[in-house]
Amino acid sequence: MAKLNPIRGGLLRKSNEGMRLFVMTIIGMVLGFLVGSSFPSVRITKVQFPSSVISYVEDKNTGVATQALLNHAWTTTKSLERNKSSTNLNETSKIYVPTNPRGAELLPPGIVAAESDLYLRRLWGNPSEDLPFKQKYLVTFTVGYAQKENINAAVKKFSGNFTILLFHYDGITTEWDDFEWSRQAIHISVSKQTKWWYAKRFLHPDIVAPYEYIFIWDEDLGVEHFNAEEYIRLVKKHGLDISQPGLDPDRGLTWQMTKRRGDREVHKVTEERPGWCSDPHLPPCAAFVEIMAPVFSREAWRCVWHMIQNDLVHGWGLDLALRKCVEPAHEKIGVVDSQWIVHQAVPSLGNQGQPTSGRAPWEGVRERCRNEWGLFQSRLQEAENAYFKSKGIKSSNSTHK
Ligand SMILES: *[C@@H]1O[C@H](CO)[C@@H](O)[C@H](O)[C@H]1NC(C)=O
Ligand SMILES: *[C@@H]1O[C@H](CO)[C@@H](O)[C@H](O)[C@H]1NC(C)=O
Ligand SMILES: *[C@@H]1O[C@H](CO)[C@@H](O)[C@H](O)[C@H]1NC(C)=O
Ligand SMILES: *[C@@H]1O[C@H](CO)[C@@H](O)[C@H](O)[C@H]1NC(C)=O
Repeated sequence: MAKLNPIRGGLLRKSNEGMRLFVMTIIGMVLGFLVGSSFPSVRITKVQFPSSVISYVEDKNTGVATQALLNHAWTTTKSLERNKSSTNLNETSKIYVPTNPRGAELLPPGIVAAESDLYLRRLWGNPSEDLPFKQKYLVTFTVGYAQKENINAAVKKFSGNFTILLFHYDGITTEWDDFEWSRQAIHISVSKQTKWWYAKRFLHPDIVAPYEYIFIWDEDLGVEHFNAEEYIRLVKKHGLDISQPGLDPDRGLTWQMTKRRGDREVHKVTEERPGWCSDPHLPPCAAFVEIMAPVFSREAWRCVWHMIQNDLVHGWGLDLALRKCVEPAHEKIGVVDSQWIVHQAVPSLGNQGQPTSGRAPWEGVRERCRNEWGLFQSRLQEAENAYFKSKGIKSSNSTHK
């Protein structure tokens, strides 16, 4: 069940009242949403089905003037229909456009809106004047309210060129309005899900299509030495389709690759411990960033989104496979050193697991992470093997190239 509630606190009364959107999901699935467009489309579509019209008119939420608008739509539709039949349209001139998006072949291409966005619109006025400014970048944080100060600090490092989207895993949303920026942000609240679960459900490439770069970040990142505009400038300059800020080397680190270098803007390759890298152009020596703070170009995200598995919610192993999405990966994946962050490693969602048979909640979560890693790797390997087999190519080591 999904509840869409864009109208709060008398939005119709006051034009500068911040619009916001809550998507509350109880059992798990909210598919998609579009702010502000639902009323007009329902009106026009349903006008052809009088019984629906009645129930629509009776719906108390639709507000005043619905009847008049319906009449107008009804007349317009009628006269369009009349004009159509008066011209010599017959069976063979029915619309079928194979190049339309799948499922939309019966529509004239001019009406097909295949992509969307996360821009907030007004409920009044001329639609073409809703958006004096369109943000070019998107940043998402997966958050619990306990990290609000950290997120507040992080958001301030992102300019007005960024759309801010928060995924709430603890159900607390309204309280964020203490922060001015929160009233313009998109809030999506679904209980106890992971960053990659949200990303798969709510960041479909066609939904986030207007954004040139997409940040999909954890909540426990220290951003004192980070500026998002400058970061964007650097990834453009160095041609990075998939990137992350360097990590403060004073904190415990797993990988050499993501450790910040003090003497440069960006690095794309590294040395690892002896024996760790079979190939200097392959992970973990190159073509690799971690999953805590990745940044994707629009094109790279279109590919990565398709690789995210619906059931493998922790994303473990995804970091090692990102290189499948860009070519050549060792040139297009890299770490930005001069805009860097601190991974604070706050246990958060990990602690929201289910305690079982005397084990701490995080233990079960950690076990699932490892398990998912294995599952992801074997799925990817099997998929590649199946592909090459179907092409008649023998390749036992394809995933290593
Ligand atoms: C119907 O066609 C007439 C003439 O062909 C045109 O003047 C009129 O604007 C059309 N009506 C609509 C609703 O398109
Ligand atoms: C349908 O219209 C086309 C031209 O628009 C014509 O060539 C064709 O014969 C028509 N078919 C029928 C069944 O009227
Ligand atoms: C937003 O982007 C524009 C165009 O790239 C740039 O000129 C402007 O400085 C950016 N805004 C901020 C606050 O950096
Ligand atoms: C691995 O791949 C390379 C080139 O892609 C090929 O030359 C080599 O023979 C392969 N090795 C095995 C064991 O299949």
